[in-house]
Amino acid sequence: MAPVEQPLDLLVIGSGVAGLSAAVLAADLGLVVGVVTKGQLEQTTTRWAQGGVAAVLSGDPDSTDLHLADTLAAGVGLCDEKAVRVLVDEGPGRVLDLIARGAVFDRDETGKLLLAQEGGHSTARVVHAGGAATGVEIERALVAAVKATATELRENHFVTDLVVEDGRCVGVQVLDQHGENHQVRAPQVLLAAGGAGQLFAVTTNPLEATGDGVAMALRAGVAVADVEFVQFHPTALHHDRMPRPLLSEALRGHGALLRDRDGESFVDELAPRDVVSRAMTQRMFDQEAEHLWLDATGLASFSTRFPTIAADLEKLGLDPAKDWLPVAPAAHYLCGGVVTDLQGASSLPGLWAAGEVACVGVHGANRLASNSLLDGMVYGARVVEAVAAGKDGPEATGPLAALLTPQETPRPGVKKLSVCFPAMTGSDDPQGLRKELQQTMTRYAGVVRNENSLTEAVTRINALAVRCPKATDSPAAAETANLITLATALVVAALTRQESRGAHTRQDFLATDPAFALRLVVNA
Ligand code: SIN
Repeated sequence: MAPVEQPLDLLVIGSGVAGLSAAVLAADLGLVVGVVTKGQLEQTTTRWAQGGVAAVLSGDPDSTDLHLADTLAAGVGLCDEKAVRVLVDEGPGRVLDLIARGAVFDRDETGKLLLAQEGGHSTARVVHAGGAATGVEIERALVAAVKATATELRENHFVTDLVVEDGRCVGVQVLDQHGENHQVRAPQVLLAAGGAGQLFAVTTNPLEATGDGVAMALRAGVAVADVEFVQFHPTALHHDRMPRPLLSEALRGHGALLRDRDGESFVDELAPRDVVSRAMTQRMFDQEAEHLWLDATGLASFSTRFPTIAADLEKLGLDPAKDWLPVAPAAHYLCGGVVTDLQGASSLPGLWAAGEVACVGVHGANRLASNSLLDGMVYGARVVEAVAAGKDGPEATGPLAALLTPQETPRPGVKKLSVCFPAMTGSDDPQGLRKELQQTMTRYAGVVRNENSLTEAVTRINALAVRCPKATDSPAAAETANLITLATALVVAALTRQESRGAHTRQDFLATDPAFALRLVVNA
């Protein structure tokens, strides 16, 4: 749809599950909503999601209390319990809303939704579509729904920065497909720009996952937290293809086993992801192996239960009925982001955030499997309901509560981080710089880190920044500049967090330290 010049009530940045759930609901509620996205609507990380959506859609033995407990346990003391309560209570209704909008999930012959088991869940509660093509189906349904509304859609528009006037966000600066810079203004702006797997050389995330939303929030002085917690998915196929083909956690839920070089089992396959990835990294180090193995040879009906994975493997010449599949951890999900209250309002009036770009406290130090699509649906919708109800600014709830207490009182649960962001004034090829940054992050700030490696990362990131062109030069320059900005915050947070917790493992501080049961916040 061609852009129309109509005053907007809400501008959504990004077209994944959080952004489109919000846009569709906003149109339903009579808001004039615009969506801006840097590629085509479908070009999002949501499309790549496999396993499914965790939500309590069956009774005993499952319950929302159990889903809450599993999520809190996976988050290792850093979840906001109230935010998780909202997630698990409102999640089932949002899944049913999505079904009503046309999303088709897998069912048994009696029509009952099929539920899968994944790591960290006490019981099977993950709904899925097309076996392990859940993201594709959700994106298809939401794109169809958003195109059917009177929403203004701008594809191939790269948002370079937030526009802040008199202490509030009033819109965004965009670089359009013709290379023209202009502004799109709206009284309320929802950042739903996704994550940043492209920080690392080995990732399951598509090329678009360049941390644009978090980086522009950092530049605008908006509070950002928990960025040291990058979740590495244990079972990315070890292969040259990038992004790495994911072998869904649902495979392990169905009984696939991890084996080391000698064929030995070495970890509980259904432990939370941080535990499994750490055990794999240690085993690979001990055995000087580049990868380990996923043994799915015992799985009945692989190709009917997981048709997309089976087709992918066949193209690569692998037969899961006979071959063990080479796997290694890959960067998968940014657990932190723009700090919000329980309605998704950020510290900057007029700016909201939902989905992977946000830190509403539901993931803590390590996200529970299949809680990410759920997070986008629940909190994208909450933003819209708040805007429609006339809410106009942050409240002291959720992770934002600790930041909105008066400055002179101690802020429980928060440590302020001072980060010196390097200026970007160079003229090198941004694609080449992105690759160098990815190598740096993987080598010095990856699954395991220590003070020396992180200090080396700081030095190298600063040197890359000097060579990076200005963000406004081109989308490619902007993406690399955004990655460098986010990498800078990440390594400072990782250096400051002198403990191991969830997705953050320090070789020099292997224990979890109760003194660090707090959020590290930039722009606090
Ligand atoms: C997977 O299918 O293993 C990925 C799902 C998720 O990231 O939660």
